[in-house]
Amino acid sequence: MFEDRCKEGRELLERMKKPLIVNHYDCDGVCSGSLVKKGLLGLGKSPQNRTFRALDEEVLKGLRDEREIVFVDFGGSMGEKIEELLPDSKVLIIDHHQVKESKVLQVNPFLFGIDGGNELSASSTAYCVFGEPKLADLAIVGSVGDMQDPFIGWNRKVLEEGIKAGEITCEQDLRLFGRVSRPLISFLAYCTEPYLPGITGSEEKAAAFLGDVGIEVKKGENWRKYGDLNKEEKRVFVSGLVRHLYSMGRGNSARELIGEVYGLPKRPIGTELSDAKEFSTLINACGRHGKPEVGIGVCLGEEGAYKEASALLLRHRKALRDGIEFGSRAVEDYGKFYFLDGRGIIEDGIIGVVAGMLYSVISRDKPIIAIAYYEDGSVKISGRATAKLVKEGMNLSKLLHTATEGIGLGGGHNIAAGGKLEPNKLNEFLVRVGTELA
Ligand code: C5P
Repeated sequence: MFEDRCKEGRELLERMKKPLIVNHYDCDGVCSGSLVKKGLLGLGKSPQNRTFRALDEEVLKGLRDEREIVFVDFGGSMGEKIEELLPDSKVLIIDHHQVKESKVLQVNPFLFGIDGGNELSASSTAYCVFGEPKLADLAIVGSVGDMQDPFIGWNRKVLEEGIKAGEITCEQDLRLFGRVSRPLISFLAYCTEPYLPGITGSEEKAAAFLGDVGIEVKKGENWRKYGDLNKEEKRVFVSGLVRHLYSMGRGNSARELIGEVYGLPKRPIGTELSDAKEFSTLINACGRHGKPEVGIGVCLGEEGAYKEASALLLRHRKALRDGIEFGSRAVEDYGKFYFLDGRGIIEDGIIGVVAGMLYSVISRDKPIIAIAYYEDGSVKISGRATAKLVKEGMNLSKLLHTATEGIGLGGGHNIAAGGKLEPNKLNEFLVRVGTELA
């Protein structure tokens, strides 16, 4: 049973002294790496973190001198390679990607028939290993970062334990980014998820919308945020947005405005850290722009980390806005899928995020495949689908794995997957994707 494997994982951690935590660089990777660090500190250990964009043979070879290693948010399919390249190390893998069982001890929901794509992130899996309610906030932020909300199954159990412990709140409300930290005008003008036609990109138009619905943007000297509005003002605000989106032919976006939102009442109120979604974007901003250690510092509440992360967030949001602006012009309809060529324009670290956000401007009836350059000039692939497509049978992990066979690497989840292509193999890859989807 999954619970027994979690217990085995915890017992192995208890036998370690100074483990190296090797974690992935996205939000779930940084949150799970931080959660494991916090959990190990609680057990009196002296852990360190190292963050990587991907786990491959080169990375494993570089870990040969490490005696105790915990792989988090990757490693699931690398068990045999780990055995071969790190035979003298004590190793635990905590992952939620599709997996191959090996002799290396692995805590992974997929080994027990639990869907790691939507029921447990690496962070919530790591939470299950420690079972400490005070770690629930990082578990939930990691799951939100991997777009697993609204939560079902095991994630729901983690959420409920977090709520009971006073670490998390859960309510139905507007799901737009910036509910708690952004002044109303920039809240709307910088809203990209969904894209608000006629508002996104213009502070003047955002202010005009707020004037039309009769919401005051300032109280005295202070700019008001959505979280400052009273119940009636929130209702007026949301119904104004719904009307606006319907009038622009964006009924799909309007229906997604409201949903479960998760608050983190023990983190500083009024900052990004008090809302799971904003927290997750802040961590992505750190990890995806080469500063995962700042993200880990934020997760662990270290002094100064939040300030540094806020500066990275500004850069991240600008890169996303520019990426979406470019993407909405450049995205092409390839029949069975959308294709975005972001090479030389969009950084590899955010191409997947941009691809996912493009669903606010493209129709949601097919997957999107986007590409960018890695620093070494090879091609990075990111695929994104929608929950509805997954329900109808879409599996991007399988698609990218098959379409890159012999010409690269690919994998991930049903709804979000990634990969890498060898030089000059793009055409072959695209033809294969088209054939697989036909
Ligand atoms: O890089 P991107 O954000 O597009 O990746 C989407 C998902 O696919 C992530 O969960 C990542 O861990 C996974 N992935 C993978 N194997 C790869 C590349 C990405 O499992 N080669």
